[in-house]
Amino acid sequence: MSFYSNIARPVLFSLPPEKSQHLAELLLQQSLLWKAASKLFSFEDEFLHTELAGLKLRNPIGLAAGFDKNIQFLSSMEYLGFGYVIGGTITKEPRPGNPSPRLLRSRKDKSLINSMGFPGEGLQAAAKRLQNLPVSPSAIRIVSISGTTIEDIVTCQTTIQTLCSAIEVNISSPNTAGLRIFQEKTHLLKLLEALNQNKKVPIFVKFPPFIDSHDKSMTTEIRDLIEACLKSEVDAITVANTIPVEDKRLAVGKGGLSGSKLFENTLSMINIIKSEYGDKINVNACGGVSTGDQVYQLIKAGANSIQLYTSLVYEGPGVVKDIKTDLARLLKSQ
Ligand SMILES: Cc1cc2nc3c(=O)[nH]c(=O)nc-3n(C[C@H](O)[C@H](O)[C@H](O)COP(=O)(O)O)c2cc1C
Repeated sequence: MSFYSNIARPVLFSLPPEKSQHLAELLLQQSLLWKAASKLFSFEDEFLHTELAGLKLRNPIGLAAGFDKNIQFLSSMEYLGFGYVIGGTITKEPRPGNPSPRLLRSRKDKSLINSMGFPGEGLQAAAKRLQNLPVSPSAIRIVSISGTTIEDIVTCQTTIQTLCSAIEVNISSPNTAGLRIFQEKTHLLKLLEALNQNKKVPIFVKFPPFIDSHDKSMTTEIRDLIEACLKSEVDAITVANTIPVEDKRLAVGKGGLSGSKLFENTLSMINIIKSEYGDKINVNACGGVSTGDQVYQLIKAGANSIQLYTSLVYEGPGVVKDIKTDLARLLKSQ
């Protein structure tokens, strides 16, 4: 049993979810502490090296968007050994997000339900923090951006892209009114056209999940979105965001499910996309990943990288090293 599961997690989980999140954030802001501890989390292996949209990654494990919404502790997350980290989602203006309660835990199935709704300090605050991050030539920093108008999203792109390695455009938060407009093909095409005019770094698009997996088919809406991404030469798609669910304990009555329960669906989505589109599109798999074996399955299914969030909450900061160690062993035994 680790320090996290014996001591840190019981303390964090004794608090209401958002309070424990704030406490974790305060700890993660102590970047010198994490730098000092970085050897504990270090595991490097050439078998893990990979490339994603021209970016050279030390390993295919990425920090998913939403964990460090305001770019307050990205360098600490880098010390945990991720191959890349995503800050944000950032919006042009500061936003309070949805009313509380807006974060729930379900310990028995290691899941979370959130209806955060992009609480954030806005573009300028995030850009300033990105600028002040310590320079690290091997760090791959990606920023998730969003908004309800093309103009706002382009403003985020042009301000932030000189400070990061790639942009992930979030069109899929289930908690933000107005965002779903870009889940419609013609709107997405217009957005991507505008982003392409200013493009200086790779662009990823983060998709909503499609749950039609029992008959192993892809919904028409998702096919349309993929076609729009192919046409616009998007560098990768991230599959996927949280699964929309209703829950009366949340102030707004509905939110997004994340964590262990998502994994089978994530694997199905990657299989479906890859069987139809093969190497035509790069895919980052996201949803329910917590072990090296799961990453191995996703990579075998064709994923170029994976992203995680909720397993950090349940398994702690050592989860990245554990995943990498198992993944390297599995890749070598192939
Ligand atoms: C509390 C919380 C906040 C999130 N905020 C964002 C966000 O701002 N932008 C985004 O693209 N995804 C956000 N996500 C979704 C995650 O990036 C990820 O897609 C989802 O949680 C599935 O991965 P997981 O099962 O590894 O957590 C959030 C997830 C959680 C749990």
